[in-house]
Amino acid sequence: MSISIDKVADALSEEGYIVIPCALSDEVLHGLQQRVTSLSPEQWLSAGVGRNTGYQQNKKIRSDNIFWISKDDPQESAFLQDMELLRQGLNQQLYMGLFDFEGHFATYPRGAYYQKHVDALRGRSNRVLSVILYLNEGWSDDDGGQLLMYPEHREGYQDEPIQRVAPELGTMVVFLSEKFPHEVLESHRQRFSLTGWFRINSSQSGRVDPAN
Ligand code: OGA
Ligand code: MN
Repeated sequence: MSISIDKVADALSEEGYIVIPCALSDEVLHGLQQRVTSLSPEQWLSAGVGRNTGYQQNKKIRSDNIFWISKDDPQESAFLQDMELLRQGLNQQLYMGLFDFEGHFATYPRGAYYQKHVDALRGRSNRVLSVILYLNEGWSDDDGGQLLMYPEHREGYQDEPIQRVAPELGTMVVFLSEKFPHEVLESHRQRFSLTGWFRINSSQSGRVDPAN
């Protein structure tokens, strides 16, 4: 990784989020970019599919397609190794108890968006830290598709975004999953990203896991 984990840890404890341009090595980035653009249309899943809500309704909230990453692919694996270093570093410095990482590529076809949401509802999810990495070269303002991040919800305030992030190759955003509502504005060109979450062990909360 080309970012300092100390810097991420400081920002997370002070602001709860960080936006990092050129977060990873060129090698890892270009590997991911190559991989994501070589996936065939059949490999992408519609992200509108959900367990609790109807498909059509979810499609109104988000219209991207996703592909889960794994260690089996060398390029995905190189990224996962970086996330492992980040996980260990943050656990050492902030005692976050991050247990594992899950992530997927996402592609937003022209016209796609993701309405304002939070990634984790307090106490109802084991996702604690969100990571978004962008994989688009030469993104311009007119291309839309910006990520808007909002402050923690406060009753009675009109929320203005605290960050507006262009999905440019190498830019990485890391934030506390429960704290920051965010949305993706309608994209006017095909947009690629990799989104993931560090999770705590769901069997925590008072129960001890037997070692295995
Ligand atoms: C998500 C998400 C933002 C982005 O997948 O939960 O908010 O910029 N993605 O791709
Ligand atoms: Mn999100």
